[in-house]
Amino acid sequence: MSANLGDIGNNLLDWYDGAARRLPWRVAPNDRRNGTAPDPYRVWLSEIMLQQTTVATVKSYFEKFTDRWPTVHDLAAASEDDVLKAWAGLGYYSRARNLKKCADMVVRDHGGQFPADVAALRALPGIGDYTSAAIAAIAFDIPASVVDGNVERVFSRLHAVETPLPRAKEEIKSLVAAALPEARPGDFAQACMDLGATICTPKRPSCLHCPVRSFCAAQKDHDPQTFPVKPAKKEKPVRLGAAYVVVSEAGAVLLEKRGSTGLLANMAQVPTTDWNARKDGATDLSGAPATKAQWQACGEINHVFTHFALRLTVWKTMAATGCIEPRTSQWWSGEDQLRDEALPTVMKKVIACALPAIRF
Ligand code: ADE
Repeated sequence: MSANLGDIGNNLLDWYDGAARRLPWRVAPNDRRNGTAPDPYRVWLSEIMLQQTTVATVKSYFEKFTDRWPTVHDLAAASEDDVLKAWAGLGYYSRARNLKKCADMVVRDHGGQFPADVAALRALPGIGDYTSAAIAAIAFDIPASVVDGNVERVFSRLHAVETPLPRAKEEIKSLVAAALPEARPGDFAQACMDLGATICTPKRPSCLHCPVRSFCAAQKDHDPQTFPVKPAKKEKPVRLGAAYVVVSEAGAVLLEKRGSTGLLANMAQVPTTDWNARKDGATDLSGAPATKAQWQACGEINHVFTHFALRLTVWKTMAATGCIEPRTSQWWSGEDQLRDEALPTVMKKVIACALPAIRF
């Protein structure tokens, strides 16, 4: 479009100076100008947590992690099990395993300093194109184009990009690059994110309050809500299975550790059948750990993963002492202990279905 693309950047920065969200990992624009440098460890940790997760959910996890592991050295010294436990509930658990690997590598190969270079950041575990650009810009003020879902929305509207996602990604990236101001690339990236989160929202954007409204092609000639253009959604396949909650006389729940590869690797679960790809997974007691026990049907829970939706039939039994001997990969987890286990959300749903008095 004909507008000076540089003006978009400067208008966004002026707006950000007054409207920046206060976030626990963020150095406010004024403090940054007065010489407070962001801590690359905190920037990295927040960006990993924010992949696929909302700001509102991440805040308390970020504070828990930085209280417990204030530096990358502390995190590298932690066990993977402890990191998984602290991550439980945030989802996408390969992020937690890579987080730990990345901390180890930063300490071992980079003397505990995150490299101030997009390619070197990109070479670390769990850091892809978006995250390397975000850390480079926010932590080190390197002029990188930082394009997450918010920024895609803002720029596809500013330029009324008709190409559907994901094909439009490269086009949008070059539009962001063209708008990058010479100064303050880190604040520019965060300004774009904040605009997308607070004004240029997916539904009913507040165009009247938008600092770059005069540049916005979608606002002039179209309905901004129709951007970014998305391909038709595919229905997710549904998988079925059963989950078995065994409760001891003392009120403890029988848990086991999942295998070390694949979905939810190394996380904790109650005994469960396979989650079959087709809609005919076993939902009865054929996979139960003690088939002769008195089982009670508790209902079903649903959980949506990236590639499929899961429906688990939940069964419960009260096991008399000695009736079930935990296998070596299994253990009893008492009510107080349950909250600290590395239980993914799907398993918290299962246990809450069988034992509604338990609060996670
Ligand atoms: N989403 C992803 N990264 C973010 C950040 N640094 N600030 C706010 N929202 C974000």
